[in-house]
Formats: sequence, C-alpha cells, structure tokens
Amino acid sequence: MKRLFLFINFSFLIAHFSFGTSVTSPNGNVVLNFSVEDGRPVYSVTYKGRPVVLPSHLGLELAKDKHASMGLDERDLMDGFFLEKEETSTFDETWQPVWGETRDIRNHYNEYVATLSQQWRTAPPKSHGGMQLQPRLHRRHMLIRFRVFDDGIGFRYEFPQQPELVYFLIKDERSEFRMTGDHTAWWLPGDYDTQEQETQETKLSEIRGRMKEAVNWGNSSVAVFSETGVQTSLQMKSQDGLYINIHEAACADYATMHLELVDAETSALTTQLGGGSNAYTPNPQPSKYYSNLTSQTSNLKPFTFVSHLTPDATGLKGCMQTPCETPWRTVMVSDDARDMLSSNLILNLNEPCKLEDTSWIHPTKYCGVWWEMIVGKSSWHYTDEFPSIKLDQIDWKTVKPNGRHAANNEKVKRYIDFAAKNGLDQVLVEGWNVGWEDWANMWKRDVFDFQTPYPDFDIKMLNDYAHSKGVKLLMHHETSSSTQNYERHMEKAFQLMNKYGYDAVKTGYVGDIIPRGDHHYSQSMNNHYLYVVKEAAKHHIMVNAHEATRPTGLCRTYPNLVGNESARGTEYEAFGGSRPDHTCILPFTRLQGGPMDYTPGIFVTKLNTWSDNTSWARITIAGSLALYLTMYSPLQMAADLPEHYEKFDDAFQFIRDVACDWDESIYLEAEPADYITVARKAKGTDNWFIGGKCDENGHKSVIRLDFLDKGRKYDCTIYSDAKDAHYETNPQAYVISKRVVKKGDVLKLTEAPGGGFAVSLMAK
Ligand code: NOJ
Ligand code: CA
Repeated sequence: MKRLFLFINFSFLIAHFSFGTSVTSPNGNVVLNFSVEDGRPVYSVTYKGRPVVLPSHLGLELAKDKHASMGLDERDLMDGFFLEKEETSTFDETWQPVWGETRDIRNHYNEYVATLSQQWRTAPPKSHGGMQLQPRLHRRHMLIRFRVFDDGIGFRYEFPQQPELVYFLIKDERSEFRMTGDHTAWWLPGDYDTQEQETQETKLSEIRGRMKEAVNWGNSSVAVFSETGVQTSLQMKSQDGLYINIHEAACADYATMHLELVDAETSALTTQLGGGSNAYTPNPQPSKYYSNLTSQTSNLKPFTFVSHLTPDATGLKGCMQTPCETPWRTVMVSDDARDMLSSNLILNLNEPCKLEDTSWIHPTKYCGVWWEMIVGKSSWHYTDEFPSIKLDQIDWKTVKPNGRHAANNEKVKRYIDFAAKNGLDQVLVEGWNVGWEDWANMWKRDVFDFQTPYPDFDIKMLNDYAHSKGVKLLMHHETSSSTQNYERHMEKAFQLMNKYGYDAVKTGYVGDIIPRGDHHYSQSMNNHYLYVVKEAAKHHIMVNAHEATRPTGLCRTYPNLVGNESARGTEYEAFGGSRPDHTCILPFTRLQGGPMDYTPGIFVTKLNTWSDNTSWARITIAGSLALYLTMYSPLQMAADLPEHYEKFDDAFQFIRDVACDWDESIYLEAEPADYITVARKAKGTDNWFIGGKCDENGHKSVIRLDFLDKGRKYDCTIYSDAKDAHYETNPQAYVISKRVVKKGDVLKLTEAPGGGFAVSLMAK
C-alpha cells in the first residue's frame, strides 16, 4: 500500500532569524540552518541541539573552456550570490523496494530550496560606428535543495537552463563539511581508482600521519591525491558519542566525490601562503593530481572536509549541460550507532524505480568456479603456450591446454550438481571465455570478446544441463577496464546471454582504465557503469559490477543493479588477509550506498595457496555464517569449494536455509569496528534469521526475542563459536544447538575473537 502526502509551503517548519533560515526534520531532531554571508552560501546542521556541521560554505569552481568565445564571464559559482527566493515543503511517502532489507521504506523529510542569483556587468563592446554601447548586465542562478530527515540531511546543487549557464566545466566542487572536533574516523585513502584498502581507524588529526601506510600500493590501479584525502562513505564518532556519516546519493552523470581534510598543517599553510600548497606526490603518476586546498578562497578551519571530485583523463571534474544537478551530499547523524545501519536516507534521495517490469529481478544465492582460481589451485586461462594473445589469430582447437583450466565441462557440471543439491540458484563461471592468457594490466584494448568460449567449455550443453536441474549459470564479463572494448561488444554479449538463458552478469574492471588516463570514478566512467546497467535492463539482465565506482543508492532507480564490489572483498583473504574487524566496519561505510558482493562463506581458512603465500582468512566458521545477515545483499555467494562445504555439512545447512530478501530488519546491537547484530524476517514468510559478527576481541550478546509473533512457536537452530574457538588458532570450532522458542525468550550467545553466530528461527 502506498501512502503519499505532499504539502507545499508549510510555514511551521521554517523559521527566519537574523543569521538566516532554519528548517527542522519531521521529529525536530535535525535542524538545518542556511544563510548567504558575504555573497557565499553557508549551512550548518545540529542534532538534538548539538552541533554536527559547523557553518560551512557551498559552491563550485568552474574551469575555463577553451571554446568559450561568447564573451561570457566564466566566474565561479562560489560567491557574489544573493538569496532570490526560498521555498519549503514536506514529503511523506512509503514505498516498496523490489528487493531489500525491509518490505516498506518510509521517505519523510522537510525540504528547503534556496534560489541564489549572481549579477555582474561586463564592459561595453568597443564603440561601433560612433554608437555608444552600454555595459552588459549578466544574471544567472543556481539552486541549493536541502532535504532534512530525522536521521540526517541531503543537499544538492541544481542548475536550471538559462542564457548565462548552458554548458560549463567543473574545476572542482567546493562543498565544505566543518566538523566540531577531532572525531574518530573510519576511513580509506582517497583514491581515484580503488577502494580495496583496509579501513583505518584514527582521529581526524592523525589521518595525514597514517596516509602512506594506508594506501594499498599493490592494487592493480592506484591514484591517491592528497595526504588528507579520504573516501566516502566516511563514518565518524565524536567524543561526545554522535555518529556522523558523510556520503553521496544518486551519483549519475557526475564524478565520484572524495573528501579532503583541512588539518592543523593545512591551516598553517593557508595562513602562511594565503592559499596553501600541500600537493601530495602520489605514486605512480603524480603530475595531474593535486590537492584541492591550494587555491581555496575561504579561510578554512581545521577539521573541515572539502569535496574533491575524481578527474577524467583531461583533469576536468565535470562537463555539464543545463538543466542538470549534482548528486546529493549526505550527512547522517544519530546518537545510536544502529541508526547508521537502518537508515534509508541514501535510497530515499534516489529516484523511484525507472524500470516498468521488474518481475525478472530476483535475489540470488550462488556458488562459483571462482575461489579455486583466487587461491591459486587452478587458472582462468586455458593455455601457457603463448607469451601474448591476439584474439583473431588463434585457432583455439589446436592450442595445447595447460591442464589447470577450471571452467571446463566436467568441473562446471560438478558445481551445477552441487548447486542443485543445496538449493543454490546460480553458478558463476569465470574463465569461460578466451583472452585470459594476458588479460590484466597490459594496456591492451582488444582483450576479450565476451563471445567465444574456450574449447573445453560447451556453453549450450552446460546451460541446458543447469536448466534441467533448476539452476542457472551466472555470466562473467571481466573487462580489464578496457571500457571501449566492452561497449563495442556488449550488445552481442547480452544477446548471447539471452540466447542461453543467463539472467545475471558479474562484470569487472581490474587495472587502469583503457583508453589511458581516465579513472575508475570519473564522470565518464560513472556514465559507463550506468550505461551497462541500463542496457542490461533492456535484456532483463541483473548486474553485479566489481571494481566499479562505490554505490550511491542508484539500485533504487535501477534495481537490476543487484550488487557491487567496490571495497576489499573476500578475495583479499587470499591476498594477505583482512583484519577481523573489517566486516564490522563495511556496513557503516561501503554498504551505505548499496549491497556488496562480499562473497562470504569461507570455511577452510588456512589457504596455503601458492608456495610463497601464507594467506589465511581471519574468521571463524560461525563468523562466516553471520555475514549472510550482517552484510546485507540480495546476491549472496557461498564462496568456498564444494568439498569444503561437504566436510562441514551441518554448518552449511545454515547457508542452505538463509534467505537473501527481507520483510523486516532490526539492528539489535552495533558499534563500528566492534560488533553488529541484526535480526531479519525472510520475505513472504514467518521465519527469522539472526546474525552477530564481532572483531578480534570477541563479544557477548543477550538477545530478547521480542520481535517474534505472539503465541507462535519456532524451531530455533543456533550456530555459535565453540568455547575455545578463535579466528587464528581454532576457527573451525563451532557448536550447533536446537530448541523450540517463543516471543520473549532470551538467547545468550558468546562470539569468539574474530567470530560470530547465526540463528535460524523457523515458524512452526
Ligand atoms: C577481481 C574480482 O573482484 C574477482 O572476483 C574476479 O575473480 C577477478 N577480478 C577476475 O575477474
Ligand atoms: Ca576486486
């Protein structure tokens, strides 16, 4: 049922003071203040009367256009503004996502729109035939739209079409977020190309000192830009216990935003140099990266974040054509960490679903011919015969196989059998198509055709076989970041998928972007990712993009975008490992914009992959089960090898049972980097599942089953860490216990260091 109330111009929610305008959230907890001071837009935010964002400037710096010859003054959208008009409204609607953590999502906010105008004169053109010409008067305007929710705010810039603002280029956006103090932050180094780092937990003042070691220099594409540059979503906690999160929503046709922090060192520089110069020299191609704080016009105070957009190959950060708008910039706030996880602010700031028919979009549990390549047991590529491959010059039938190629008929059939037997919906097969012999980091454009299977992969037979068992294959398109190549082949690739009955594709963007110079998170690349999603929708194909830009809630508008990687996934357990608290941070940060294809479920954690590799997964088996609840995604993988699951079949029962689409979700406990406990009700059923995941310190949970239906009994199965379990020394020690429970009963559970628990509650 859809409820919609829309009232325009509610006067109670807006108040005018000498310092500007105040807008409160529906329950009054969040207050936004806005004013124009010395021609510059300024906003601030409070929560329950406590400051969250201190007065901060808004604006955009424009770049000079070499084609500009119309005499337009290309002045920045930074200052010289006056407030021309103010509008307010309130909005309250409940909508139903195609898939999600809850069946209903309430979108309730008060809105404030400031229309800002700039006016200036330019000198008259030279007198003409004795005629005295008048100076020319210019006027243009920009809107800033704020939405004030009970758990935070969003704002964006809007540029109506107008004679003085048609095409413009963005040098950078200068949205400021001035924090109140030296908060604790969970951050990743700001990087134009990767998010596959370990999260750092430091005070804001310690970011600069930690930056060099925080960068994942070994990643296949790295471009850091500043010693104080960090990514969003950025989770923080103030000394007085406020949880604050900065991110963005609906990033489309625009570059991904990073944040650059002004700290004591920057401030000293800006004072001393009247502008500052702290350009960080990154590795490996420094020249076109620059800190944003060098030409800042305001006097920036410590603990201020300034937006920093990802440049394209030319160094530009935005090519705009009015009418247009920026993505929403979001600040979420609460004194309860659980609200950070249950918030729908980012989804709500995205537009409603644009796909008419969504009946073909479905949550999916899958396994894959994948982990065995990640741990080095087998290969994506088929032959070791050639130093390089030219796709049009090889007769694959005559090529000598290397004997380690995983995506072969026999093995894929075994995975299909395993999926069918265990109720998994799909089988991902990587390495099915030719080109893997020299696929990564070769600056090679024609790397894959997404059409031609290796000779030992019978695409028709395998799909037929899967379908006969009620299973589908899940397509894989690694693009090697050769995006032109992918766009050239995509239509045919999707037709091939339709022909054989695939309805989901995992894409990948490993390595630097080809054509060279562009970055993974630029406006042009963000357009590419969305183009793929939209084209896929025409073919009724769901998309799970790895190494693409971090999500910003666009899955509301295009729900066939069922997953993204865009962070350090389980694969890193085989590339040196991730800290045990990693999965207790991701829901606060990376997952804010949309689900992650984290690929959980590793039961055998000592990987002994390559002879020189001593990688191991820092998690217990019970902890691995918990991730199916705590890392929400409509796409969940059972990532380990079938033979490992067969060894621990009683624990695997939880993966067989667990749902991946929900009517209700209740976050029971949460603290960033420490623990997360969540109860979820499976969609369209009366069954509940509970998961708890903790960091390296262990955790004790006391759970009151208040959310169960009154008078109903449930078969409860608890998968918990054994007393002596430990992620490092004893990860496979778990205990399974069963009982019958009812509403109000209490479960007391102990999570081992690096462990967790999982509970299924099946309604009787
Ligand atoms: C990186 C992806 O994250 C991983 O899942 C995939 O197997 C490889 N690229 C190869 O495409
Ligand atoms: Ca990856």
